[in-house]
Amino acid sequence: MNQRLSSAENGTSVGVTEVSDVQNAIEERLTQTVMNSFDGCQDERLTFLMKALVRHLHAFIRDVRLTEAEWNSAIEFLTEVGHITDDRRQEFILLSDVLGASMQTINVNNVAHGDATEATVFGPFFTENSPRIDNGGDIAGGAAGQPCWVEGTVADVEGRPIPHARIEVWEADEDGFYDVQYTDNRVAARAHLFSDDDGRYRFWGLTPTPYPIPHDGPVGRMLAATGRSPMRASHLHFMVSAPGQRTLVTHIFVRGDELLSHDTVFGVKDSLITDFAEQPPHTPTPDGRQLGEQSWSRARFDIVLAPDTIATQPAAVHAG
Ligand code: BEZ
Ligand code: FE
Repeated sequence: MNQRLSSAENGTSVGVTEVSDVQNAIEERLTQTVMNSFDGCQDERLTFLMKALVRHLHAFIRDVRLTEAEWNSAIEFLTEVGHITDDRRQEFILLSDVLGASMQTINVNNVAHGDATEATVFGPFFTENSPRIDNGGDIAGGAAGQPCWVEGTVADVEGRPIPHARIEVWEADEDGFYDVQYTDNRVAARAHLFSDDDGRYRFWGLTPTPYPIPHDGPVGRMLAATGRSPMRASHLHFMVSAPGQRTLVTHIFVRGDELLSHDTVFGVKDSLITDFAEQPPHTPTPDGRQLGEQSWSRARFDIVLAPDTIATQPAAVHAG
């Protein structure tokens, strides 16, 4: 007899099942048969992936002693995820995000390299063809929010400044919405600029505020059913690219934000938490901009890019 035990986090047993040796053998034989069915595949990597997928999927089904009703609910759920997905909404990516699968894929593919800035989740709100601004320009484009001066440098891992790096930035407005979530085709709170001859950059953005991921669909219902919040910690997105360097997709987060410890897509990394220093009204601005009675904030983000020649992944240690 083999006993399998599933326990809820509070220690309550939610399923103890005795599995006979005969039953075990039946289940193991099926797993092996399905894995073997990929032996004729000519693509070595695809064979490896499919066999591993079957091995883990079957292990999950057997481990939790999945009921047929639960399997049907899972199929129904995935069907709903498919139905709500279209050109403007990608519920599968959202599902991957809230399960930490996006972040884990990012971790696997962005191995730490020297002091290179850490990557985090891309999110669904980047758009191509953002407006270009000069250094010191304003990305807000009319979006509501407290002005925030952001400045820093772009350098390589040897500390050499990288001039003319392309810096894409995008963020939600103070109501928690990206421009693409409005129906009026506005382009706001996004832009691109280039680091100057000394690798420095600066721009006006908005002080980031927390916002929920889209939660009116099946992923939102899953979060509600499991008692999870849809909120993301306040952040400002960056994508930085330069010839010879690994493109960096990341955010900066606001130090002190109470959501830092439970960002719903698990995107927060300590190294990305940044001081957004509050500046009372009438504090002189770095570029002489007059903000009247409005307070503002300022943040510094020095970016270090890894070379694109290094392996993105550590050597695999698992055999087929
Ligand atoms: C975002 O930061 O924009 C985002 C990331 C993952 C899911 C939803 C939104
Ligand atoms: Fe975001």
